[in-house]
Amino acid sequence: MSEPLIEVADQAGIVTLTINRPKALNALNGAVLSELDRLLDELQGREGLRAVLVTGAGEKAFVAGADIAEMRDKTPEQARRFARQALATFKRLEALPVPTVALVNGFCLGGGCELALACDWAVASDNAIFGQPEVLLGVIPGFGGTQRLPRRVGPAMALDLCTTGRKIDAAEALRIGLVNRVLAQDELPAYVAELTKQLGGNGPASVRGAKQAIHDGMDQDLESALALETSLFALCFAGDEQREGMSAFVEKRKPNF
Ligand code: HXC
Repeated sequence: MSEPLIEVADQAGIVTLTINRPKALNALNGAVLSELDRLLDELQGREGLRAVLVTGAGEKAFVAGADIAEMRDKTPEQARRFARQALATFKRLEALPVPTVALVNGFCLGGGCELALACDWAVASDNAIFGQPEVLLGVIPGFGGTQRLPRRVGPAMALDLCTTGRKIDAAEALRIGLVNRVLAQDELPAYVAELTKQLGGNGPASVRGAKQAIHDGMDQDLESALALETSLFALCFAGDEQREGMSAFVEKRKPNF
């Protein structure tokens, strides 16, 4: 049987999706994007889902970009369709109701960086290299980079990266806020274990509520976004988690969510 394009592992509701084209540095072609879309559709309604982690197979790359060989001969219309396919898939990833984390191991370039940006946050190994090098290929980012990158790191740094195409290391990615943490490559599994423990101990409905408030609020003016927060906060009091969480504090015991 041939290797899956994306490997799936589930550890107590923490699902890891591993893009599995290591010989092409996990470059995103149409087939990988279709498979990612299918898997995300499946995960959307999965019971007990706590978080989704995205990473790349092998030690060399997270994802080195969209597949350049596949893109080379596209017409403008085919390029538009390819970009729209990726944007729809990345939107589906972003809209998952649970936290999503990019575990960036090695090259994270072009469409790879845009995939990481579609995750809620990113954790990088110390050998990670980031960049939006599309201008070196005669194009611009097309999987959301010109929009999600400035929202993550600010417009000046996004302009720097997208117009020079320069690559940055993990330390600079941390400094500009592109990633949340940098770890040695062999520490990534321990991070997954830590995350599993942390998220596994929190109330799943409140974790989902916090994500929804931040994501949906970011697209609204402050007043509307604060009203959204109030609605979601009040909604917490309609479920079991709030009573259990607060009772556990008062009774000096651990909550059982
Ligand atoms: C297709 C790729 C690829 C890519 C690497 N490979 N990146 N194939 N698309 N994006 C393939 C190489 O062709 C090679 O295949 C194998 O992976 C190993 O890569 P090497 O280049 O031999 O490795 P190395 O010398 O270590 O260089 C690593 C690298 C370099 C610096 C990451 O591969 C590189 O510059 N890749 C392209 C990075 C990039 O420009 N990404 C942005 C793409 S545009 P063979 O068969 O020769 O072994 C993009 C646009 C998104 O993402 C929006 C579109 C709408």
